[in-house]
Amino acid sequence: MSVTPVDQLFNFKDKTVLVTGASGGIGEGIARRFSEAGANVAVHYRNGQAKAKALAANLGDKTHAFHAELTDPKAVTDLMDKVTAHFGRLDVLINNAGIFPNAPLSTMTIDQWRTVLAANTDSVFLCTQKAALKMKHTGGAIINIASISGLNAGPDHAHYNSSKAAVIMFTQSAAQDFGPDGIRVNTISPGLIERDGIKDAWPEGVSRWQEKAPLSRMGTPLDIADACLFLASPAAQFITGINLPVEGGVMASPIY
Ligand SMILES: NC(=O)c1ccc[n+]([C@@H]2O[C@H](COP(=O)([O-])OP(=O)(O)OC[C@H]3O[C@@H](n4cnc5c(N)ncnc54)[C@H](OP(=O)(O)O)[C@@H]3O)[C@@H](O)[C@H]2O)c1
Repeated sequence: MSVTPVDQLFNFKDKTVLVTGASGGIGEGIARRFSEAGANVAVHYRNGQAKAKALAANLGDKTHAFHAELTDPKAVTDLMDKVTAHFGRLDVLINNAGIFPNAPLSTMTIDQWRTVLAANTDSVFLCTQKAALKMKHTGGAIINIASISGLNAGPDHAHYNSSKAAVIMFTQSAAQDFGPDGIRVNTISPGLIERDGIKDAWPEGVSRWQEKAPLSRMGTPLDIADACLFLASPAAQFITGINLPVEGGVMASPIY
């Protein structure tokens, strides 16, 4: 067991971190925080090229943007090769990319089901497997962003709820299989996270949330980013296979 001085626990100066879905809200927050912690940051995007490139430019020369469709095995292999060719190593993978469309179960089509399962679980499987090959001789940390919806079902989200429950169990499996290589694998399950326009688009949902959550607010991308920093850091060196809900205590609220 190595002992890291307390003031160095969140120093990622010599580390390379790949954040998938960094063209989106939570991913951007995670990429920014690891950059502040000194890491080389690989900013992944699919359609959001302009946003990802602007973020990489804003974060400076230790950051670079990489494209991949994460449901495509060849594209994921290429992504891992490009990241390690560019930065020389891969220490931390944050599997953050995902989608959350609404669809009532009574009319959900098989295509809607498959699209969500592919974006939210195929991507985590592929990225974890290919990243672990890169980390095999150095060790590393993988963090999967699931959701409290994987623990407590929200309406019109059967595909999403199921995909996130799968990610939580996949994390335990990956922690077992890759632990001997020094690779830790953990899940973070965010609650409701602030994004532009959410208070106007869904006022009743936001106010229900704020009434129920003991901390009386939505989360922010920074709340998720700081939990990622912790789980990726030596402060969590004996933690693997867990699911860490980051949700302002909402799961601790009374049911009745
Ligand atoms: N927001 C919340 O309240 C909340 C709560 C719990 C959990 N989560 C989870 O947190 C994660 C991020 O959420 P967010 O709110 O930041 O979402 P977001 O802003 O919509 O961003 C989603 C990101 O995922 C990428 N992506 C989606 N499908 C992809 C695919 N097939 N291949 C490659 N990239 C893909 C998108 O890339 P492009 O835009 O470049 O195409 C985008 O960068 C998701 O896994 C979500 O389920 C969110």
